[in-house]
Amino acid sequence: MRYCSQWHLLLAIFLLALTVQAKENEVKTAVFLSPKFVLGPGKVENKFYHDIDFPRGHIAIKEFYGEVVDEWGNPVPLHETYLHHWVVERYYAPKGVEVPEGNGNQDLHLSKYIIVRNSGVCQGNVLGQYFGVGSETRKTKTYVPDPYGIEVGNPVEIPNGYEERWLLNVHAIDTRGAVDRLGCTECRCDLYNITRDEFDRPLRPGYMGGLLCCYDQTQCRVQEGFQSIKRSLYLRYTVKWVDWEDTIVPGKVYILDVTDTGKMPRDSERLSALHGCKVEYDVESCGTNGLANNECLDTKKASIVMPHGGSVIYGVAHQHSGGAGATLYGEDGRVICSSLPIYGEGKEPGNEAGYIVGMSSCYPQPGTVKVFEGETLILESRYNSTQKHTGVMALFYILVADPPPKPMHSLQTSVHELKMLSKYAWALVFIGVAVAVAVILSVGYLQRNERESGYQSI
Ligand SMILES: *[C@@H]1O[C@H](CO)[C@@H](O)[C@H](O)[C@H]1NC(C)=O
Ligand SMILES: *[C@@H]1O[C@H](CO)[C@@H](O)[C@H](O)[C@H]1NC(C)=O
Repeated sequence: MRYCSQWHLLLAIFLLALTVQAKENEVKTAVFLSPKFVLGPGKVENKFYHDIDFPRGHIAIKEFYGEVVDEWGNPVPLHETYLHHWVVERYYAPKGVEVPEGNGNQDLHLSKYIIVRNSGVCQGNVLGQYFGVGSETRKTKTYVPDPYGIEVGNPVEIPNGYEERWLLNVHAIDTRGAVDRLGCTECRCDLYNITRDEFDRPLRPGYMGGLLCCYDQTQCRVQEGFQSIKRSLYLRYTVKWVDWEDTIVPGKVYILDVTDTGKMPRDSERLSALHGCKVEYDVESCGTNGLANNECLDTKKASIVMPHGGSVIYGVAHQHSGGAGATLYGEDGRVICSSLPIYGEGKEPGNEAGYIVGMSSCYPQPGTVKVFEGETLILESRYNSTQKHTGVMALFYILVADPPPKPMHSLQTSVHELKMLSKYAWALVFIGVAVAVAVILSVGYLQRNERESGYQSI
């Protein structure tokens, strides 16, 4: 009986030791609301919020989730407010200098501010974000598995006199009462009655739809006499993170774009003249021939050279309605990640019929899927082309960690192991003490037992 209670005590000590250890760097969660935006039927909102609430300090981000909610915090379905995209960008700003709210991130490209882009190869002011998706936000996994994390807020990297800030862009379209819901979400210029872009430049001939036709405060066509109230909305976003520590392996975010030509575009109509990433493209209808032969799948490919290599620890694609999946291949044809859309089947938020409500993601076993410096990856995007689509997208996000240390036992790995060990040092100390106590108590117990039964110990 005494043995039994001793072991219970030891077990309790051991569990306590483990809890103490777990508490040391637990995952923290914060939920924030974006500034309010107001939408009436058919209206578009595309604002840039320059200094959003975000966890501060030297941290590793583990997860980022967002969705549109109303004033009462209720999730809003996509068939009412279509979330075209939301993106979160990182930058350094001189301390104490406020950036005015505006409807462009151009302001940030003044020399005063330093944009901290992701590690992808698109240039200019597009696709520099760390996080961001669209309608698929509710059912897309974004967590970063241990021991990885996205490192931000490292004071060593922030220039003197600057601070790290985060910018949020939300592009939402109210399609209540719309004459053509899909057309409004695909930003078809005729539905918006747009012939010139936001900066009053004529659209290029043949431009039928895309972001140039659904800029901030544009109006998509609604049914005649349709009445509904304007309403106040927010992007509610949830960030999970841990405080930085040396045992965390940093993962780098790469965003690859299927429209990336790798060259500077000649066309002056582009959203930015500095990159080969056009962000959007059109999918032509397969026509009656294709329909008859069941060949209504549009495939688009891009070759993208990786500036650095490493282990792929997460991957996911972004597509719009009509998307049929995207795959990232290595130079030798191996599949790095394939991401498929999840279409909704009902009416409730997170399951809206006809919309992409999630994208499947990849979590390869660490070290099993790698990309190499200078390797040409092939990004392939597939769309259902039964009907024409304008302004579609195909991005691929991958999180890449530096290659794990070589199997050879170098000093480097020993140091790493030592650090890993120190993480469990408290638990080990407790276990050590517990074992010592157990031995002492047991020996005492045995000795007493032996004395009581008349035997002599040796
Ligand atoms: C479309 O825009 C033109 C001017 O660009 C304007 O004259 C016309 O009334 C608009 N049509 C609708 C339906 O708003
Ligand atoms: C392609 O889209 C059409 C509607 O545009 C739909 O009827 C059809 O089922 C889709 N095909 C596939 C394979 O999803």
